[in-house]
Amino acid sequence: MKNIKAIIFDAYGTLFDVNSAAEKCKNKIGNKWEAFANYWRTTQLEYTWLRSLMDRHKDFWQITEDSLDKSIKAFNIDVLMREELLNLYKVLSPFKEVPETLKTLKEKKFKLSILSNGTPSLLNELVKSNNLDSFFDDIFSIEEVGVYKPNAKVYDIPIKKYNIKKNEVVFLSANTWDVSGGGNYGYEAIWVNRNNNIFDILDYKPKNQIQSLKGLLDIIK
Ligand code: LAC
Repeated sequence: MKNIKAIIFDAYGTLFDVNSAAEKCKNKIGNKWEAFANYWRTTQLEYTWLRSLMDRHKDFWQITEDSLDKSIKAFNIDVLMREELLNLYKVLSPFKEVPETLKTLKEKKFKLSILSNGTPSLLNELVKSNNLDSFFDDIFSIEEVGVYKPNAKVYDIPIKKYNIKKNEVVFLSANTWDVSGGGNYGYEAIWVNRNNNIFDILDYKPKNQIQSLKGLLDIIK
């Protein structure tokens, strides 16, 4: 890959493990913790898409709370866990190869940024609490355009800011629909496929898929 002007990462599910909040409470939740975590995540994403379609925006933190409230009911979880789960969601853990890979990319002088559904304050806290803030040139939030991924307005944010061409961006996401969104927009989108999943049928087919972020180091030389 040549002419890379920026490497842009999705946050939730790509850099940070969205299941890590519920996992840290698995002793209290019991063995349904993973099904609960997946339901919470799926509901959260559905709410982003539905609110964008209905033109009734709420920020990602409010959506995270709303989707948690539905999930607590659906899985009959003690409502006293609500605060604990929300606090843990603010400091989600990164996947294990993330700090080292970002450090290597930074040393190679790539421009690194995040483009995410999260609010600016959520994303800043997440990155700071994991000591990753020094690696990023910019953190772009959809709050700038008031509509969620995969709307093209979102993928337009860094293009306008950096004044570069769409295909000069390498975009990484573990969320297949976000890879399709970025790829259909015109990014060089790479799928981070950690769990051997099946890709979506949404027009874009990524040329590259990697099992962890580390795989990026072999693609960009
Ligand atoms: C994000 C969602 C896709 O971080 O997880 O934008």
